[in-house]
Amino acid sequence: ASKYRPFSPVHLTDRTWPDAVISRPPVWCSVDLRDGNQALIEPMDVERKLRMFNALVKIGFKEIEVGFPSASQVEFDFLRRLIDEDRVPRDVTIQVLTQAREHLIERTFEAVRGARRAIVHLYNATAPVMRKVVLGLDEDGIVELAVTHARMFNRLAAAQPQTEWVFQYSPEMFSGTELPFAKRVVDAVTEAWQASPGRPCIINLPSTVEHSTPNIFADMIEWMHRNLARREGIVLSVHPHNDRGTGTAAGEFAVMAGADRLEGCLFGNGERTGNLDLVNVALNLYTQGVDPGLDFSDIDEIRRTVEYCNQLPVHPRHPYAGDLVYTSFSGSHQDAIKKAFAARREGDIWDMPYLPLDPKDLGRSYEAVIRVNSQSGKGGIAYLLENEYGLELPRRLQIEFSQVVQGVMDATGKELSAAQIFDLFEREYGTKR
Ligand code: KIV
Ligand code: ZN
Repeated sequence: ASKYRPFSPVHLTDRTWPDAVISRPPVWCSVDLRDGNQALIEPMDVERKLRMFNALVKIGFKEIEVGFPSASQVEFDFLRRLIDEDRVPRDVTIQVLTQAREHLIERTFEAVRGARRAIVHLYNATAPVMRKVVLGLDEDGIVELAVTHARMFNRLAAAQPQTEWVFQYSPEMFSGTELPFAKRVVDAVTEAWQASPGRPCIINLPSTVEHSTPNIFADMIEWMHRNLARREGIVLSVHPHNDRGTGTAAGEFAVMAGADRLEGCLFGNGERTGNLDLVNVALNLYTQGVDPGLDFSDIDEIRRTVEYCNQLPVHPRHPYAGDLVYTSFSGSHQDAIKKAFAARREGDIWDMPYLPLDPKDLGRSYEAVIRVNSQSGKGGIAYLLENEYGLELPRRLQIEFSQVVQGVMDATGKELSAAQIFDLFEREYGTKR
């Protein structure tokens, strides 16, 4: 049983609205090695890609987009190493991306030759601006482009029957596409693939650029979910980006609106402002009592690996993983946390002020929770002395000593560690005791 309580404020307890919460995790797909990688200043080499792949497997991802093998030799070689050196666990499926162009699709199928199971992911743009300005095609032309290349998948897959194939299609710029047209293209592709419950394909709807508030994106997903011709033969996936800073919300709302699967990156890496942050969504579920099926119990190790592979830092205020997120600076927060720790009993539901999650669950410690700086009160000082040095100060002394500490911090403007506070205490009272 989870120690976290499902979120159900009074106004949502009416169960006629069942989708107001997420009660089971979506299928997760990491695109760190593709979308994340293509957005790096210095894309990963094979060694960094392998490290990232192993980390993703360890976390528990069962679907991993490993690259765009027709786009570069590094991508192609990485895929060959995964397959030739048998590095893909049996319960993990690799995914590869290709544009709807004949020679790129051929090269992609060549790259995955010999894989046990593979998701091959086809995309072409569908939004008006892309049709008009980039592709120079009208609506019929876009449908034909998608269907012609989808049919190529049938032929090339049939020629490699030793692999279990799953086909995926993305109408790139879905977020900027007219819904009836998006449906028309997707229906045509799923028809070409004869998608059925026995042989489902993945339809992935990206907010290639976040154009709208997340509720509007979710409305678009719900409309597709209700109207796609072969919905029963489709795993409905979404691929939110984060241009408005609402990628996490867009993904969560999309799942409530009918999506089965989420694509994203660890810590929100990806083009421009990034992809949906998988860590956020998974741990948001966790703190509401839903097991995400992903293991973040050593978040610092994961963070170090991702920072090394991406050569980008994770923000100190990143929810769940940032350096500062289990740190309380304000005196009133420190006091409330101290009281809640004291009142807490083994097996209690997690119900802590200012700490939505037990840092221990992610391999972080309580020690950093209470820090003392010029914004803190006496509670944090007393907590550190008691927890680190077993010194229980009477209330009168807490008040007196906090003024001493405050004086030092006001003068220096710096935070004081537990050891420095203890030294100060020794200096002030050591001889008097
Ligand atoms: O954001 C996007 O549209 C993509 C597609 C290629 C799926 O990354
Ligand atoms: Zn993307």
